[in-house]
Amino acid sequence: MSETMVRRIGLSLGADLCWVISYEEILRRLNLNIPTPNGSIRFETDRVTIEPFEIHQPCKYDVVVDRLNHWYHTSREWIKKAILMDDLYVLNNPWSIQSMEKHTTYCAMAKLGMPIPRTWLIPPKAYEPQPDLQVTLERYAKFFDLAAIGDQLGYPSYLKPYDGGAWRGVSRIDNSDGLKAAYDSSGKSLMHLQKGIDGFDLFVRCIGLGPQFHIVKYDPTAALHDRYTMSRDFVTPEEAQLLRDMTMTINSFFGWEFNSCEAIRKDGQWHLIDFANACPDSQVTSLHFHFPWLVIANLKWSLFLAATKKKFRKTLDWDPYYKVLEDKSNFSERLTGYAAIGHERMATAEFQEFCDRHLPHIDQIAFDFFHSDQAKHAIKLKVATLFPAHEVDSFTELFFERVKAWYR
Ligand SMILES: Nc1ncnc2c1ncn2[C@@H]1O[C@H](COP(=O)(O)OP(=O)(O)OP(=O)(O)O)[C@@H](O)[C@H]1O
Ligand SMILES: [Mg+2]
Repeated sequence: MSETMVRRIGLSLGADLCWVISYEEILRRLNLNIPTPNGSIRFETDRVTIEPFEIHQPCKYDVVVDRLNHWYHTSREWIKKAILMDDLYVLNNPWSIQSMEKHTTYCAMAKLGMPIPRTWLIPPKAYEPQPDLQVTLERYAKFFDLAAIGDQLGYPSYLKPYDGGAWRGVSRIDNSDGLKAAYDSSGKSLMHLQKGIDGFDLFVRCIGLGPQFHIVKYDPTAALHDRYTMSRDFVTPEEAQLLRDMTMTINSFFGWEFNSCEAIRKDGQWHLIDFANACPDSQVTSLHFHFPWLVIANLKWSLFLAATKKKFRKTLDWDPYYKVLEDKSNFSERLTGYAAIGHERMATAEFQEFCDRHLPHIDQIAFDFFHSDQAKHAIKLKVATLFPAHEVDSFTELFFERVKAWYR
């Protein structure tokens, strides 16, 4: 007897709007019915609601694409419960998001030989009052010479939070007076002081979604809606491979299947400055031209996970990476080895086969959607939440044109 199985994908969301509507609508238009030996698999998706839960309560989802758990604790605990109790697969590993700040990622990747700028961690300027604070600091906190650290690192440098995001508290430092002023106003934040890579000729963000990677030329000096540039062909095939392998290493190491890596090229050398971004910007208002790539990559990966019931890796298991570090002597061989672990963990070959066999029509369906009034309306909804009323129509038009330009 033939059996129809339903796989459920939950979208755990905050302010996201446009990619969600695009994802849901393209999935609806795909109208998938994937044959299995005993029947077929269909897919349902809905938006995860926030409510009290008991730990034995079943979870109806096979896969959750999560956009909340880096800051919203109820969702994070629900996701952790569902992984442990119900074998949920989630993007991204919630324990790793909770515990791996930017600083940990610098340390871990520096150890693997990745090009990370020299980085100091500086104790905070101010503290939350705590009963044992005074005695701890009096006994053990050493007076330090911040200017000496700054001079040793050289200028420019960047003072930025150890757990940063959204450019909060990031200052470019040009001399010791500037360093003192920035540190004095850093409050209770634990800060990095990082060597600045000045005079670079290229800045990129490499976005990873499962084993799919997309490299965008990034302009940090532009207005928000122009930072993701529409340039093409700005890296050589060898550089693209290097960036993909570095991002795959980072993402598989930390269990982040949706993450982006910021890299700067200076004098032909790449430097990784920020790659703890496990909830990457997904808004059409930032990504515009690149938005179709993101929505399609997200669909492909989550459908593959749901259809194959891929087992979620609960623990990170770093030993294989350290084995590669030990066994190989040069960075290029090591990187190939690290990335191979990632491809194995993310089942790249199986994923490719799944897409070829079951999703050959996804690009055409996405094309039709992204040229539709429905897509334009979804863009407008997002624009209306961020732009003043008199700019909504013109920015909607701009982003819609850029989305369509992706296909030209
Ligand atoms: N070492 C560095 N060398 C050169 N520029 C840097 C360096 N560190 C930070 N910057 C600049 O400061 C910006 C913000 O720094 P960073 O990316 O570390 O912070 P963030 O708060 O995580 O930002 P986001 O949320 O946009 O990723 C970078 O995009 C880059 O322009
Ligand atoms: Mg950054």
